[in-house]
Amino acid sequence: MLTHLNPYKKKHGSVLYQYQYQYQFTILSNTKKMDLVLNFLNTTTIGLISLISLFLFLFRFSKVSHTKEPPIISGSWPILGHLPLMRNTQTPHKTLGALVDKYGPIFTIKLGATNALVLSNWELAKECFTKNDVVVSSRPKPVAVELMSYNQAFIGWAPYGNYWRQLRKIVTLEILSSRRVELLSHIRISEVQTSIKELVKVWSKQVSEQSTSGSNLASTKDYVSVELKKWFAQLTLNMVLRMVVGKRCFGEMVDEKNKEEAIRFLDNIRDFMRLIGTFTVGDGVPYLRWLDLGGHEKEMKECAKKFDKMLSEWLEEHREKKVLGSDKVVGERDFLDAMLLVLNDKPIEGFAADTVIKATTLELIIGGSDTSAGTLTWAMSLLLKNPHVLEKAKEELNTQIGKERWVNESDITNLVYLQAIIKETLRLYPPAPFSSPREFTEDCTIGGYHIKKGTRLMPNLWKIHRDPSVWSDPLEFKPERFLTTHKDVDVRGQDFELLPFGSGRRMCAGMSLGLRMLHYILANFLHSFEILNPSPESIDVTEVLEFTSTKATPLEILVKPYLSLECYETM
Ligand code: HEM
Repeated sequence: MLTHLNPYKKKHGSVLYQYQYQYQFTILSNTKKMDLVLNFLNTTTIGLISLISLFLFLFRFSKVSHTKEPPIISGSWPILGHLPLMRNTQTPHKTLGALVDKYGPIFTIKLGATNALVLSNWELAKECFTKNDVVVSSRPKPVAVELMSYNQAFIGWAPYGNYWRQLRKIVTLEILSSRRVELLSHIRISEVQTSIKELVKVWSKQVSEQSTSGSNLASTKDYVSVELKKWFAQLTLNMVLRMVVGKRCFGEMVDEKNKEEAIRFLDNIRDFMRLIGTFTVGDGVPYLRWLDLGGHEKEMKECAKKFDKMLSEWLEEHREKKVLGSDKVVGERDFLDAMLLVLNDKPIEGFAADTVIKATTLELIIGGSDTSAGTLTWAMSLLLKNPHVLEKAKEELNTQIGKERWVNESDITNLVYLQAIIKETLRLYPPAPFSSPREFTEDCTIGGYHIKKGTRLMPNLWKIHRDPSVWSDPLEFKPERFLTTHKDVDVRGQDFELLPFGSGRRMCAGMSLGLRMLHYILANFLHSFEILNPSPESIDVTEVLEFTSTKATPLEILVKPYLSLECYETM
């Protein structure tokens, strides 16, 4: 009987009418049998109608929730969107963090014509970097990136796809693998020792000058002053430059040519950091790009050109050595040597081998030095502001290492308090407070909201790291929390409440190297010197966000040697 149903009517919802009609027709022919059919039909009809209604309701409901978009913050300007809001502050992560009370942990801002999704709690970060990881694994391409990253040849700026996949594999297996990082440990050791020895020399020169001049060594006079922000910047840049291109640019043993190169390089890094986050007219109004109002594009091109000149020279030097047969043994090979060998002049996905090598070399130098120097400066600022923590760190070093020797990389596993200090520093001052920009490559749902393809993703790590529902006394510097309440929380991208290296497939490729550098440098600095804060009442912790967050002002401190003097001599 059901075969008599009119499909058109069925489709358009007149099902009940059809069943009734059919029932009347059949009753004329066989009344008794049809009693049963009637009962059956009634039950089936009601069931079917209920199912259809439920389906229609669910369909409508799901349609509504899929089109619900996250709140957009007020104060958007025509063309510029919320850029003026971001520009008027040196710390946009704080400005946007403060809006969480009003808008909740997920909201949208407009960067020119582009929407950016700002996330401020760990649950939302987890949702992004686990089930939606592929969708959020690409990077945007603002004008600055096009002009200063060899048109997205930097691994960290490449869109998600074959080029990124191949390069990430090479970098992970051949350049930043645990084995290669281990093989280059002699560079980290020698750089730390050289920098400390040079500082001890400055100290002993000052002390001997004071004693010959008959000066009375009062309490702070046998200390020497050092500007730590600069000291860490030079040490980390030397360390990274030696690992990446085999060069050392600062210090006594550096010839004039290299010193000049270093100064030019540092200046250019500063320009790069300032420019890479710059929004140009072309980003907001692409058809007005040719005007280059403000001259940003011109500056970007100049900065890229300066880097390219130096990188091309370094690449040629390495290639010549390779051709001349003075190929280094594995342990001596720097990253650029390794890239030359692995790529062997083969292009990757349309990028010439030389472009890939120059782009990767530059990225490793910038990414590796700036983040580490910034974190070390924050760590020391926090220690000076919290002398009881500094005291405890020194106690641990005394107990585990003693006064007669240096800290080795292998000692770090036993320095649990020092490790907690690094974690707590990265919690309070993640060098990249918004991680590195990502872009949604498909429409998807985050926190129940519909997010459109092309939206930028800005996880506010700074805010997530200070969430009071996760961290008690979130603004306090308390390394102990990582030995007690949060002892299982790590920085390696699996615990979404602490993500200084990001998370998912685009997370930091140099995390192991970065952590090694941080622990080793901080441990040896703390162990080698007695440290005094010349202005105990005020350690300025004003932040400025360029591409990474750094301390805005210098960090001037007083030091004197702590280990036995033979220890420094036999280094
Ligand atoms: C304190 C040390 C460091 C911190 C806090 C840090 C943090 C980060 C962050 C937050 C990202 C973006 C991750 C994401 O999008 O989820 C990143 C990416 C990256 N980092 Fe680091 N980094 C550090 C040191 C280093 C070092 C030493 C190197 C190499 C020499 C390095 C190389 C890279 C690279 C190549 C990427 C791009 C990865 C990709 O897009 O596939 N980083 N880093």
